[in-house]
Parts: sequence; structure tokens; C-alpha cells
Amino acid sequence: MKASSQSAVAIAHPNIALAKYWGKRPYGHNLPAVPSLSVTLAGMATRTKVAFDDALAEDVFVLNGSEARGESLTRVSGLLDRIRKRTDIGTKARVESANDFPTASGLASSASAFAALAVAASAAAGLDLDRAVLSDLARRTSVSAARSVLGGFVELRAGKEGDEDLPATEIAAPNHWDVAIVVAVTREGPKDVGSSEGMKHTMQTSPYTDAWIERAPALFERVRSGVIDRDLSAIGPAVEQSALMMHAAAIAADPGILYFTGATVEAINAVRKMRKDGLEGYLTIDAGPHVKVLTRGADAERVAETMRAVPGVLRTIVARPGPGAHVES
Ligand code: PMV
Repeated sequence: MKASSQSAVAIAHPNIALAKYWGKRPYGHNLPAVPSLSVTLAGMATRTKVAFDDALAEDVFVLNGSEARGESLTRVSGLLDRIRKRTDIGTKARVESANDFPTASGLASSASAFAALAVAASAAAGLDLDRAVLSDLARRTSVSAARSVLGGFVELRAGKEGDEDLPATEIAAPNHWDVAIVVAVTREGPKDVGSSEGMKHTMQTSPYTDAWIERAPALFERVRSGVIDRDLSAIGPAVEQSALMMHAAAIAADPGILYFTGATVEAINAVRKMRKDGLEGYLTIDAGPHVKVLTRGADAERVAETMRAVPGVLRTIVARPGPGAHVES
């Protein structure tokens, strides 16, 4: 089949890892070194249109209205190439993607971006792939994107030697547990060190790498059972330790990678004070300066208000468990 102009649009949501992934296995195939567990979020979205077009000499990638080249275009083309390999489409594509939240700032935009791209590109190519294949396809470009293909509470096991395929799986649907993630946004611009680069540098130079890889699976198991039991007080300490241990490993690299700003530290302290004052919420932090607070759905607005009072917090976003990536109908 020859593609003259085939297109599709997909929507994907970012996810926040409650048990973090940081670091890859040395066996190729973009395999994570530790298991992770996330919640896919409604309330923030990436919308991506893919159009295979005979008139194009090269893939074109437009991100939030401006044409992107270099590393981000290479990653987009890499995923498109894997789709093209599965079909007889040799045609280049135009990809237009937009986020309704800050891009590349530690709000997991690569997760929703590559989940949306995998779903839109396979639909545009006329492929009817199941969730596991789509998740694996997204994971080969961005590990966290494997999780955004699915909705609700999602796990991704660590890769082991000999693995090639590694999809994420949904362990519970979005309505399994009424929790919210309150994002305290502390900066609008892009981050300094991307997650791929940051974790590679951590793995290569941090004396805490082995401790992280050894301890992360037990934290993952605690988070996993807490999610299944809907037990915020049980899951919370493991969620915080997973994030802080990941950052400790990065900070101990040579030279150290510090994603925190002053506002991040203020926000960490505020979450702990809030808890002492009787409002239960637990923090997590990705490869950026924002602090995200896991709390009960009913407490979300009060937590957001508390976070907005923290010096350096610009605004808050309240997100709840949401669906996986899907074709826009
Ligand atoms: O897969 P990436 O490059 O988006 O890395 C994600 C790393 C963290 O967001 C910090 C943790 C995670 O598990 O999402």
C-alpha cells in the first residue's frame, strides 16, 4: 500500500512516577535498570497529529508551533522508522505536537509526547496494534512514554539481559483510587539537563548508583502494594524515598546534577510541614524543579492552596488519574 496522505491525531497524558525509573540497563534496547510505577494524569495533555505525505523529502516535526530539529527530530524519526518498518510505507511524515503544560521542564512531556506519537503514527499508517505493542514501541524511544500509553496506575518492570520487548502494564484503572497529584510549578522555562543525559551521567559517575539500583525494586514493591490497597499512609514514605534517593544519586554524580531550585526546597519543607499540621500528602520530584504532591482527591484543593503560598511556587495544577493514549475521535 502506498501512502499518499494518511493522517491521524492522538491524545496522550503525562504520567508521574510514584516509584521512579532512573538509569538504563547496559544491554541495549533502551531497557530500564529499575522497575517503576506511575499514575497517568488527566488534566494535562499532548495532542499529536501525524501525516505521512509523499511530497515530503524528510520528516518534519513541529512542536508547540515551531519547527524542531536536532535531537528531538532524530527521536521522532526513530519512532517513525520503526512504524515504517512494520508497513510498506516509505513516506516521510509531518508531525505536529502541542502540550497544554510546560514542555521539557520536568513535567514528563517526553512521556506524553512519545505515547501520543506511537499511537498517532501507527493509526496514520493503518496499523491496528494492541496496547502492549504500542507501549513497547513508545518505550524504545522514551522509557516513561511506555507508561503513558496506558491509563490509571501503570507498572513497568526492569529490563533483564536478553529482553527486547518490554511493555508497561496497567495494574489498576483510573477509578481504582480517588487520589490527586498537585503539581507545584516553580519555573516555566526548559530544564538544564535532560533526563536521558542526566541518568546516563548518574549511572557512569555517581558512587550511589549501585545503592539506587539495589534499593529501587523494594520501594517499587511497597508502592505497588500501597496502590493496590489504596493506602496513602503506607505508600507515601516509599514515594518520597524513591524520588529523594533518585535525586541523591544524581546529586552525587561527578559533577553533581541538581534539578532543585530554592523553590523546590521550600516546597519540600512545606509538604512536610503540611503533613505535621494534619493534611496528608507526599512529594515526588522528576528531572526538574517542580514538586508534585500525591494526596487524597478530597484534599486536593486544600493541598493546592498550601502549595501556592510557598515562596517561589508560581501556580499549581491539580491532576487526577486519567486514561491512556488514544486516537482522537
Ligand atoms: O523516560 P524519560 O527520559 O522521560 O525519564 C523519566 C525519568 C523520571 O521522570 C525522572 C522518572 C520516571 O520514572 O518517570
